[in-house]
Amino acid sequence: MTRQNASNADQIEYWNGKAGENWAAQADRLDAMLSPYIDIVLSAAQIASGQRVLDVGCGSGALSRAALAAGAGHVTGVDVSGPMLALARKRAEGRSDAEFIQADASVWQADGKFDRLISRFGVMFFADPQAAFANLRAQIAPDGRLAFVCWQPLSRNDWAVEPLKAALSLTDEAPTRPEPGAPGPFAFEDADRTVGLLSGAGWKDATAASWTGKMRLPGDTVDEAAAFAVRMGPAARLIAEKELDSDKVFQVVRSALAAKADTDGHVRLDAAVWIVTAQA
Ligand SMILES: C[S@@+](CC[C@H](N)C(=O)[O-])C[C@H]1O[C@@H](n2cnc3c(N)ncnc32)[C@H](O)[C@@H]1O
Repeated sequence: MTRQNASNADQIEYWNGKAGENWAAQADRLDAMLSPYIDIVLSAAQIASGQRVLDVGCGSGALSRAALAAGAGHVTGVDVSGPMLALARKRAEGRSDAEFIQADASVWQADGKFDRLISRFGVMFFADPQAAFANLRAQIAPDGRLAFVCWQPLSRNDWAVEPLKAALSLTDEAPTRPEPGAPGPFAFEDADRTVGLLSGAGWKDATAASWTGKMRLPGDTVDEAAAFAVRMGPAARLIAEKELDSDKVFQVVRSALAAKADTDGHVRLDAAVWIVTAQA
């Protein structure tokens, strides 16, 4: 790791531990599930041919490679996770137009300026998001643009609620509720706050547009979708936190998802994201 902000230590440990390893191991499935958001980010980013693009919290690099396919001249992916970056580098082997750097994006400084900052669910983990966005703005050219997607509140995201509700039926203990805005997948659920953070960090014309739709859980069967939901996401966090029996959780999650499955066996559930854009 080149530079890091000490207050991001918990997240850095998290993304270098089991979570990062799981994300790398499940990358193909995750990329299939999250593929709709690639076009959404790229269309909001308005990348012109040959531009230099920064992908923040790039993970295994799916969005970075898509940006190149969309005409970017060069992409730099920055992420704290060793396991996910290893996969990103492997997937981009032999390319001279992509590089992946292990660094805390909240304090990392580039050698030159980028034309675009993009991210697919990679900017919600900073302990001090306003300072992080100010640092990131300093890496972007004066006429540059930012576009990222982040989750709307948990309650609007059935893909997360349904497995979580099922898992919660196995414990009397309430799940630990993070403080509103605390680093995590739903840190930017409040669009007004996110826009305020960006404006406070010096970004201009910050906006958040709502996107809602169905998201298909990975797998061709309910069993596969349930196995995925038990391994990744909020239900997996609950299993770890409460030390629940994952086989029992699998059974209740499978029943819950079976009730929601389409006739083709696929599980498509409501998802809601903010599409956030701003000018440097
Ligand atoms: C939900 S994952 C999304 C990964 C990827 N963008 C994707 O769509 O597949 C969040 C990513 O943010 C990264 N991340 C968390 N905190 C970070 C930080 N301070 N600097 C850079 N990356 C960070 C994690 O390591 C992880 O790869």
